[in-house]
Amino acid sequence: MSYDLRGKVVLITGAAGGIGSATARELYRNGSSLVLTDTSQIAVDTLAQEFNSQNVLPLVFDVTDAEAAKEVVRRAVERFGRLDVAFANAGISWRGVPATLRTCDEAEFRRIIEVDLFGVWNTMRAALPEIVRNRGQVLVTSSIYAYLNGMANAPYAASKAAVESLIRSLRTELGATGASASVLYPGWTETAIAKVAFGGNAIATEMNRTALPAFLRRTIPPEQVAQGVVRGLQKRQPRIAVPARWAPISMMRGLFNMFADRLLTRNTHLHRLIGQLEEEVVRTRDCD
Ligand SMILES: NC(=O)c1ccc[n+]([C@@H]2O[C@H](COP(=O)([O-])OP(=O)(O)OC[C@H]3O[C@@H](n4cnc5c(N)ncnc54)[C@H](O)[C@@H]3O)[C@@H](O)[C@H]2O)c1
Repeated sequence: MSYDLRGKVVLITGAAGGIGSATARELYRNGSSLVLTDTSQIAVDTLAQEFNSQNVLPLVFDVTDAEAAKEVVRRAVERFGRLDVAFANAGISWRGVPATLRTCDEAEFRRIIEVDLFGVWNTMRAALPEIVRNRGQVLVTSSIYAYLNGMANAPYAASKAAVESLIRSLRTELGATGASASVLYPGWTETAIAKVAFGGNAIATEMNRTALPAFLRRTIPPEQVAQGVVRGLQKRQPRIAVPARWAPISMMRGLFNMFADRLLTRNTHLHRLIGQLEEEVVRTRDCD
């Protein structure tokens, strides 16, 4: 059954970012009202200016703050009378040089898990009473990293696999309620976060080139992800893979990963690059 987004109230976290803002625009075009949240009030206010003020509520919200999550939902309901969809989309990766598990900074590892896993949990937890009441939807931005090898991006990959698992559980637990839960798996998308793997660091970029064939390294604009999100919500799709070329790999992941991990672990060019990356991490830390 088609889920009509017209008149629905959608909460987006990380709304000022590439995928968040493109999705906000696409949802607005489809008649939804928006609760736009991010860590900077100015950033969400700026985005909100693109829309009719009657249909938008811009709020500052750090997803690691569980109490703030409840307050955001309370204010959304106070303003619009309801909340239908929670899009837990905020995410981070390394701040600087991508690190391996041997060399990464302990605090940064924890921060990534805090935002990418607990941030999703806080958002989901606060929104669920409203989502169930309105037979709405929870949508979480995971990643192709939910099933790809997370070398040099391990806390990110671990979080993305964890939120995928959370949503599978939630979808089943919501089975009798009329509400549903979905996972979004964007491929490489042209936004700030993707710079970690593409161009932001020469060694990480070369690692990507070594690990993936060219057709899997092609980036897409965030607007393409946004269109996928809207289509997915309209169909209550449990899994939204954008671009679609990743879907067969996700489906075949058991077999694919067995061979891919084996090849990556034995690749001597990759060994050298990992060594260089670790040296760069240590050098950068020593300079701080
Ligand atoms: N760009 C890609 O290639 C790609 C691929 C797969 C998944 N993703 C995921 O898509 C989501 C959106 O990322 P994007 O590509 O738009 O990148 P982006 O960096 O443009 O956007 C991320 C947004 O999250 C916000 N954010 C960071 N920490 C936050 C916190 N503690 N609380 C609230 N908001 C916070 C940032 O301010 C930013 O606006 C992320 O979860 C990311 O992991 C991105």
